[in-house]
Amino acid sequence: MAEEPEVERNTEVTMDEIVALAKRRGFVFPSSEIYGGLGSTYDYGHYGVLLKNNVKNEWWRSMLTERDDIVALDSAILQHPKVWEASGHLDGFTDPLVQCLGKCKRRWREDHLREAIAEDGGDPKGEIHCPECGGELSPPRNFNLMFQTHMGPVVEDGNAVYLRPETAQGIFINFKNVLNFARKKPPFGIAQIGKSFRNEITPGNFIFRTREFEQMEMEFFVPPADAGEWYEKWIGIRRDWYLNLGIRESFLMVRPHEDDELSHYSSRTSDIEYLFPIGWSELEGIADRGDFDLTQHQNHSGEKLEYFDQQSGERYLPHVIEPAAGADRAALAFLVDAYDTEEVEGRERTVLKLHPRLAPVKAAVLPLFNKEGMPEQAQAINKVLRAAGIQTEYDSGGSIGKRYRRQDEIGTPWGITVDFDTKDDGMVTLRDRDSLEQNRVPIEGLPELLAGKLIEPWKSPKTG
Ligand code: GAP
Repeated sequence: MAEEPEVERNTEVTMDEIVALAKRRGFVFPSSEIYGGLGSTYDYGHYGVLLKNNVKNEWWRSMLTERDDIVALDSAILQHPKVWEASGHLDGFTDPLVQCLGKCKRRWREDHLREAIAEDGGDPKGEIHCPECGGELSPPRNFNLMFQTHMGPVVEDGNAVYLRPETAQGIFINFKNVLNFARKKPPFGIAQIGKSFRNEITPGNFIFRTREFEQMEMEFFVPPADAGEWYEKWIGIRRDWYLNLGIRESFLMVRPHEDDELSHYSSRTSDIEYLFPIGWSELEGIADRGDFDLTQHQNHSGEKLEYFDQQSGERYLPHVIEPAAGADRAALAFLVDAYDTEEVEGRERTVLKLHPRLAPVKAAVLPLFNKEGMPEQAQAINKVLRAAGIQTEYDSGGSIGKRYRRQDEIGTPWGITVDFDTKDDGMVTLRDRDSLEQNRVPIEGLPELLAGKLIEPWKSPKTG
């Protein structure tokens, strides 16, 4: 076994460093870049797709594979405009917009400006000025965040439709379908992952707040009397999900909403917040939506949406507990939490210490040299691992040190090196990304070895 190298760690990371790594290594690019970019939309490259897919797969695993009281749904992005009337989004899904009347004419969210003043110890109810140029600000105007488009070939009144601003409503309007076909009774949940769109006034901070993003939402329908118990349970379950995927406990907190922060549909909400480089910010919200949505859709559609309990003879509208997360925002938190720079034997390396299940590539297969049958052997190992469903990357270009560094930067947990001895002893060197330990292991059984490692409990090796 190789000796563990001396490691000096620096766990500080800025958003700029994350953006630079994401671009350099092909995780995320600004969208429409060759045309100068389009405000706050992003395209995911190869490793970004693999990472975000892993985040979504882990969410599905926790919602579907590990439980039998939740079913899946994939509803349309375009829905009947009445959905948004009933849900309250047409009237209520607004942010208070103020515009600078001075030099810069920039637009701001009034609530964000007041929050910033309060954080700096000032009076949030006092007069506010443009943070950019100090100019006077216009009175606040409520700005609806929904993107509007038109159904059919002619743009005219009466055919306006909206891109959904949350996936949740697709679940409520299918409640009856699921009740009829899924043979579930409360407590049970309906889970969905999909794109949502919001015409945010102040998007920014990379993929933290964008105008097009993916949500991972689950609506859990419960007997009204059990809502409090399930609200607490889901806060715990969702917090554990992040911790089990390696987020450091000291970087995660649960923050209950103040009354004046609650959305129009919620009687109580707690945010799971992560300490991003921009400060503590929402990662996911767990809301008690009561029977608000089912009542609204029942009233607006005229369809009965009650559940009839045959055992008790009771008919009622279930209450809903909703854990609502963002796939992009979660991917960002995992990237930030995993990012590390450290000195290894006098050289700096950047490494993503991602949970192996989240890592875009699980193993890099590396022939030590491009000769003496090593590439062929490495290719054969690569093929076997891929056939076992393990995402690998074959890399034969450049010095072995350089190849390790490249894999460290994309967070590949294991390096498999084929060397001069491999063809005689049937062994390869398995390098661990975090401990940097190198062990000789037999080729036979490699897929099982890695598959076993992927389901082991894992804790971030980073401190802090
Ligand atoms: N159905 C409830 C709902 O949509 P939300 O707090 O507005 O609640 C849930 O959104 C999650 O969706 C947020 O915690 C965040 O992770 C993600 N999200 C919301 N707006 C976003 C945006 N503009 N960009 C990226 N993610 C966003």
